[in-house]
Amino acid sequence: MHLNRRTLIAASLSITFALAPLTSGFAASPAPAKGEHGMVVTAQHLASEVGVEVLKKGGNAVDAAVAVGYALAVVYPNAGNIGGGGFMTIRFKDGKSTFLDFRERAPLAATKTMYLDKDGNPVKGASLDGYLAVGVPGSVAGLEMAREKYGKLSRQDLMAPAIGYARDGFILNQGDAVSFAGSADRLAKDPAAAAIFLKPDGKPYGTGERLIQPDLAASLAAISEKGPDAFYKGAIADAVVKASGAKGGILAKSDFEQYAVRELKPVTCTYRGYEITSSPPPSSGGVIICEILNVLEGYPLSYLGAGSAETVHVMVEAMRYAYVDRNSALGDPDFVDNPVSKLLDKAYAKDIRDKIDPFRAGVSKDLMPKGFGESKETTHYSIIDDDGNAVAVTYTLNGSFGAGVVADGTGMLLNNEMDDFTQKPGVPNLYGLVQGEANAIQPKKTPLSSMSPTVVAKDGKPFMVIGSPGGSRIITITLEAILNVIDHGMNIQEAIDAPRIHHQWLPDKVYVEPFGLSPDTEKLLAGMGYHLDLADQTWGQAAGILVGGKSLAEIEKGGGARYNGAIDSRAASGEALGY
Ligand code: DON
Repeated sequence: MHLNRRTLIAASLSITFALAPLTSGFAASPAPAKGEHGMVVTAQHLASEVGVEVLKKGGNAVDAAVAVGYALAVVYPNAGNIGGGGFMTIRFKDGKSTFLDFRERAPLAATKTMYLDKDGNPVKGASLDGYLAVGVPGSVAGLEMAREKYGKLSRQDLMAPAIGYARDGFILNQGDAVSFAGSADRLAKDPAAAAIFLKPDGKPYGTGERLIQPDLAASLAAISEKGPDAFYKGAIADAVVKASGAKGGILAKSDFEQYAVRELKPVTCTYRGYEITSSPPPSSGGVIICEILNVLEGYPLSYLGAGSAETVHVMVEAMRYAYVDRNSALGDPDFVDNPVSKLLDKAYAKDIRDKIDPFRAGVSKDLMPKGFGESKETTHYSIIDDDGNAVAVTYTLNGSFGAGVVADGTGMLLNNEMDDFTQKPGVPNLYGLVQGEANAIQPKKTPLSSMSPTVVAKDGKPFMVIGSPGGSRIITITLEAILNVIDHGMNIQEAIDAPRIHHQWLPDKVYVEPFGLSPDTEKLLAGMGYHLDLADQTWGQAAGILVGGKSLAEIEKGGGARYNGAIDSRAASGEALGY
């Protein structure tokens, strides 16, 4: 039996609400999607359909992830991409796991101070807009390596749906249209991007209108036919290098020719008997999720209750300590000696717990490491197949529509991932992250990420597939979905929809989603010394799957659906699709 504060109180008072479902989150959520053979959860409904079709045709979860990756590049161009990069965490049916790092690398001509003016101050927008912001893209190499090593179907089969949607177009629903409208001004600044994403009258495409992308169709067809060489050694790289040279960038053909995917060992840890498999450096995600979980394992979160002041207090303190480590100690493993085993040590977590005052908020500036001087958009999708292979992918252009530039003829938006580096120690980036030397810019280096594609297992079997966009908040979004399922008994949809809190060391504030905490709880936290930032916007778009039931209670009872999928209610165009 899963015990939480509500069931304990109900048991002690012998009252009837114990018969009501266990903790239900703050707002009612729709029921999770169900499937017996497979589940695909993405931020765009057409891409979810593409993934399910691949599974039905006999592809495995990796095949579906590759097809979805290409499809999102067409139907979700604000984050889906071939001009960006990302991570894939795979947990195979036999319990083995692996991790593909196809994130962007800094160009060979990059320098530590490339975004600073002559006085050493960051030039506004230089790491965000235009060609200087672009890292060498990795998505095409990553998706192809995944397919070649772990997939079953041909590249042509997996890319055909994306090529079809680019060539013939797709009809925008309201959720799709909203993302275009929000970035119209930015896209208007680049003639090639404007020609694709804006109508001849300069307005963005609206609900019910068809977006056709013939140049992107041609780029995808070339990759489908000739493989990644068409991208890294052929006309696509040439076009990007030419545009970059003409418009203030530093990308060279050799940057593309030298691009290589890294296959890495995922980060693993345990939390209350569950096995977490997630992203290693150059992501901070897996390490920091595990560090926070290790700290929280020492507190009875289930008893303290979801959203109570005591729970929020210990969560925020664990986040505060872990983000100091994130922002000061972690970087690309080819350049930095990451203290991963220290940060994952349960004894280190106990040291942190010992420093947490049970009654008072900590103070971030007191934790400044010696010698220390991240918007929108990314997308995450989660897939599981009939054999139990689980794939979690988070990939991105970094900001919404990336650097907002398209090299003529490619149809492909380019990322602005260079902003994830430390431009100057102590100066916040797009996500307000204040970072240090470990993440300084160097040629060929990969900027530190927060992306956290994660698979949770229990007793050797897949239990949960989860991840989200959200910049520096990805870590806490993913963490909270896990806690909501394991500690608070929420079903997978409730766990994802529940209001979020976030703390990242600096600024020293607790960010709270609208209606995330009751006024009483806010007062209690303020009394403990917390500075609450009651945000007027929600954040993140998590995509999750729970295996064996929609919640822990249903899994324990037995008889739940095999696969239970949930796309965040914050994702306007997404879908969880099972079969
Ligand atoms: O890799 C990272 O951590 C960031 N580039 C992710 C950006 C992101 O999630 C934006 N989406 N909301």
